[in-house]
Amino acid sequence: MSKRKLIIAGNWKMNKTPAEASAFIKALKPLVKGSKNEIVCAVPFVDIQTSITAARGSRIKIAAQNMHFEEKGAFTGEISGQMLKEMGVKYVIIGHSERREYFGETNRSVNKKVAAAFKCGLKPIICVGESLAQRDAGLTADHVRYQVKAAFVDIPAEQAKKAVIAYEPIWAIGTGRTATTEQAEEVCRLIRMTVKELYSKRVSSVIRIQYGGSVKADNAHELFSMEDIDGGLVGGASLKLDDFATISAG
Ligand code: PGA
Repeated sequence: MSKRKLIIAGNWKMNKTPAEASAFIKALKPLVKGSKNEIVCAVPFVDIQTSITAARGSRIKIAAQNMHFEEKGAFTGEISGQMLKEMGVKYVIIGHSERREYFGETNRSVNKKVAAAFKCGLKPIICVGESLAQRDAGLTADHVRYQVKAAFVDIPAEQAKKAVIAYEPIWAIGTGRTATTEQAEEVCRLIRMTVKELYSKRVSSVIRIQYGGSVKADNAHELFSMEDIDGGLVGGASLKLDDFATISAG
């Protein structure tokens, strides 16, 4: 067996009010008490405060789902990394495919956000992954390698090794169609090789790479047992208490 400490992150997307978030995390705490994995809930901005309070005294860490790359200024509706950091946020999801698709995120903005996150002491969970059309056209490797390289432009090795990369094939997100363990491992390995090319063997051996896309209680542990898969970014199943507790167990 490998390997790195598994990181299981629930991506709640636009779900749960502050009160619901608090109740969920309080109920989750005893269920994940025995887990050795790193457990993260990426909650909506307005849920951060109650989530952090609810998670106190447990191993659950709170993440944001996005942030702006500027430190402050006239950016109506945006949230800075420093604001998140000060609240006690540890991780921030950057470049989720829904943000790329619906909110105009580009590889350039992803790179700027990664740099900004590290600057204020947040660890980015950087999302990459191909569409079905790209997979069918044989472009998965080229596309994912490009996204990884673009995300890490000008990011020093000492920071890069603390990043988490989430491989999320777009065709597997919210569709119930999980990548096979072999498909997921193949791309996660490719990502690790890309990090090795960009930095070094050392960085590539410590950086954590998650799989995301219809991770469920009944497929999570097989996926996480693969050599290059260090946990998961979990959407739908992270909203269900028992499912997320089962996925986080270990
Ligand atoms: P899913 O979402 O688990 O519902 O497929 C994963 C994600 O979008 O991070």
